[in-house]
Amino acid sequence: MLRVKEAYRAGLYAGQPFSAPNIFQTSSSQHQPAGSEARWRCRDAAHHANEDRTVMRLSRHLLLFLPPLAALALVAAGCDVDHARTTINPVTEYGRAIQDVYVQIFWWTVAIFIVVEGLLIYAILKFRSKTESHEQPEQVHGHTRLEIAWTILPAVILIFIAVPTIRTIFAVAAEAPAGALQINVTGHQWFWNFEYPEYGIRTANEIHVPVGRPVDLHLASGDVIHSFWIPRIGGKRDLVPNRTNRITFTAEKPGHYFGQCAEFCGASHALMRFDLYADDAGSFEQWAENEKSPAVAPEDPKAREGATAFLTAGCIACHRIDGTPAQSRIGPELTHVGNRDKIAAGILDNTPENMARWIHDPQSVKPGALMAKLELTDEQVDAIVAYLQGLK
Ligand code: CUA
Repeated sequence: MLRVKEAYRAGLYAGQPFSAPNIFQTSSSQHQPAGSEARWRCRDAAHHANEDRTVMRLSRHLLLFLPPLAALALVAAGCDVDHARTTINPVTEYGRAIQDVYVQIFWWTVAIFIVVEGLLIYAILKFRSKTESHEQPEQVHGHTRLEIAWTILPAVILIFIAVPTIRTIFAVAAEAPAGALQINVTGHQWFWNFEYPEYGIRTANEIHVPVGRPVDLHLASGDVIHSFWIPRIGGKRDLVPNRTNRITFTAEKPGHYFGQCAEFCGASHALMRFDLYADDAGSFEQWAENEKSPAVAPEDPKAREGATAFLTAGCIACHRIDGTPAQSRIGPELTHVGNRDKIAAGILDNTPENMARWIHDPQSVKPGALMAKLELTDEQVDAIVAYLQGLK
């Protein structure tokens, strides 16, 4: 910081070292006698003028590297248009409506950037001082035509941005079309509950939709405010207690899309993820058919032991497994948990090892998780895992 100040001082007062007030004068020099002060300033100015030239040479080198670095960063940022978290390559009409507004605003701002930077560069080149004089340039105050222009022009640009934005806000808040598949979504600390009234399905953290059929999501919260967001599908929408928000969209191609809670909702907000699978009509019906069937009783002895442990050790207090006495709806539905790709709301692959780790100590995986850490033996955990993994 001191070097910058000194370089600045050397440049600023190089032409008038004795008369200008030295605003950056250091405290040690303030107490020098008047005669030596003049000599000190003279030597100081010469010394700092040298430093100044070094600083300028350095910044010229830096300037040479900046454009290729910026270009590289731009290219790298645009490499993966299929990235799970990208918003610029949507797969629904809902996402595309938002993307269209984004693209329009992008080109408006590119045009503004070019005009403003162009004028700036023009002014720098055209009006730079051509002599060594440090006189102040002529000061100009007010230019009516310019002031009218730079008041009206931004207003016109804002209108061009506001009209498509407001039109899109209404478009993406529209009612779902007739025949849409209703899915009730409830956000909880920290998992997602999905219900399909049409099929009588209840599931968690993994949402399946048929390609080509509009879906009508009814978004609610079981506790605090969450936000439903699947970047490739479209914009975020909050899940607010005592209120139902909606999103309607139609998935246009099969795929697996990453979802994430997008509103801070407590310690494990970042670990509140989910996955959306857009299935072709046949696969969706197959999935739905399986999901609405009750759990099949296990035959494997270890899994049978696990089923007993599940019903007696405490799991039953929160979870539902259709076809068994476990009917609590506090925690995620587990009727077909063995079929899911992830557990613990999208954060662990659904492997026996991960499931055992999760059941042993949920809080070590997801800080603050409401799932109780039960006093289970390793054998009990292994048996419960064998049972749950078998719930296909
Ligand atoms: Cu739920 Cu953040």
